[in-house]
Amino acid sequence: MAALSESHQPGFIAGCFFPRLLHSSSMLESIEILERTALAELADAGDAAALEQWRIAYLGTKGKLKDAMASLKSVPKEEKKAVGQRLNAAKVALQAAFEARKGELTSGPTTRTGPQIDVTEPGLDLPVGRRHIITRVREELCDVFGRMGFDVADGPEIEDDEHNFIKLNIPADHPAREPIDNFYVEEPDGERADTGGRPRMLRSQTSTVQIRVLQEAVEKGWGPPLKIIAPGRVYRPDTVDATHSFMFHQLEGLYVDRRVTMVELRTTLLQFARLYFGPDAEVRLRPSYFPFTEPSAELDMKIALKPGEKPKWIELGGCGLVDPKVFEAVGLDPEEWTGFAFGFGIERIAMGRYGIPDIRLLYGGDVRFLDRV
Ligand code: DAH
Repeated sequence: MAALSESHQPGFIAGCFFPRLLHSSSMLESIEILERTALAELADAGDAAALEQWRIAYLGTKGKLKDAMASLKSVPKEEKKAVGQRLNAAKVALQAAFEARKGELTSGPTTRTGPQIDVTEPGLDLPVGRRHIITRVREELCDVFGRMGFDVADGPEIEDDEHNFIKLNIPADHPAREPIDNFYVEEPDGERADTGGRPRMLRSQTSTVQIRVLQEAVEKGWGPPLKIIAPGRVYRPDTVDATHSFMFHQLEGLYVDRRVTMVELRTTLLQFARLYFGPDAEVRLRPSYFPFTEPSAELDMKIALKPGEKPKWIELGGCGLVDPKVFEAVGLDPEEWTGFAFGFGIERIAMGRYGIPDIRLLYGGDVRFLDRV
């Protein structure tokens, strides 16, 4: 008991802050002071030598922490546990702080050894990806038509025969509707509620978007007049060869307003051709037939496919004035509204413009090809 009463006077053991006569509260206080002093000194250790000195002083076999551990034996039995735990916590904290400080000092530029990085060296050439050629051509087309005042519209690739055929004035007995020429979706009977019982299919043309846009414009009252293009994928069960694929891309155009004539159609196409292919481009319309336009025409453009090459006529697609039956199908008065429409193949343009000989290259995913176009 006598020893305990003297413990009110903390003293030092072996140059350490430890009470000679031990009582747990002053012992705990001393550990606290030891820890704080050690951490402050550690922060001041500015190089490897100072750090090593600190390590010897605090964590070394004759260091202050060891001393403190040794004095544990003088702590009364019932208080040993608390003091021991506090000592252990201080040891863990000091070791962690030492490792962290060591990390800081050795990662700094002044203590770095071994090869240095020369930031002025040119970097390695990392392979950089790019957008697919079809994506790029589609964006170019949208850009040019955008400058001519066309908005970009979109429609679903899984369609029903109402949008793909019926409302486009393609009657039930039309050969274009043959199952052999289309990808119909096989569905168990009774599961067609969402199309009102109409057969579903992968769309065979982007002309479907004409119907979708007109219906929406009428329903929501935002048009006509309206002026849109619709780029997108279409599907037909063609045998794949150098110029055919079961999936390809079309660009549809539609302009509806009052008193639209073939002159507006031809002018728009010519303006596009000159903006996109260059000032010498020409446009030719050859009489043709499409159920959703009247009159209808095949659309050719005379363009130089590559710089310096002699311009040639190439077939791009079809066009015409919107058939009154299409207006009726979407609830517009054909006496009031007129319009033109056109549709052409995006692959055709991409292959022509970038000298691509085989359509299969566009879908093969061969980086050696994709890197070059
Ligand atoms: N949809 C037609 C096809 O795929 C192309 C076409 C022709 C689109 C005339 C039109 C058009 O908008 O007016 O063959």
